[in-house]
Amino acid sequence: MRGVSLSRQNIVLIGFMGSGKSTIGRLIAGRLGFQFVDTDAVIVQRAGMDIAAIFARDGEEGFRELETAALESLDHLQRSVIATGGGVVLRERNRELLRELGLVVLLKASEEALFERVSRNTKRPLLQTENPRETFAKLYAAREPIYEAAAQWTLDSTAIPHRAAAEAVIGEARRVFAWQDAP
Ligand code: S3P
Repeated sequence: MRGVSLSRQNIVLIGFMGSGKSTIGRLIAGRLGFQFVDTDAVIVQRAGMDIAAIFARDGEEGFRELETAALESLDHLQRSVIATGGGVVLRERNRELLRELGLVVLLKASEEALFERVSRNTKRPLLQTENPRETFAKLYAAREPIYEAAAQWTLDSTAIPHRAAAEAVIGEARRVFAWQDAP
């Protein structure tokens, strides 16, 4: 594995929309007694409007600027679990910031499973197209290699319950950070 930044001991979750970053992240944080931070929530809080409204006002590029600024604002975090938005890996600067935060874990799942989960919530601005399934397939194909390159550890959660996925990530973090006392 490429060198993990060990000083702050954060767990950073990356992955496509619907990969369970927020749900699994909350479970991990609960088990470890860590703070849980969701970059989308940080962006919404700082902007004072929801993600759809940010996209409508500033476009995707404007949202990406806010996303980088949100990541930069997290540099004080230690022993936290950080869930990120699905497009965070697109910028090299963001990938650097994520690596500085701690162990970067990719939550992976099959394209079918992800689309099934995502289509339960129709709010995501990037999927407001005539053919969301096709848009999803294109995004998935374009991003998959970027996630793989950005990740320091990968978990395929297609067929496992969220709780088991959380335990697996904790196991890896314990190994990487050499925690003796973690639950
Ligand atoms: C995005 C994913 C969303 C959110 C925004 C853009 C993306 O987060 O950041 O709608 O580019 O994949 P989730 O991955 O939590 O859905």
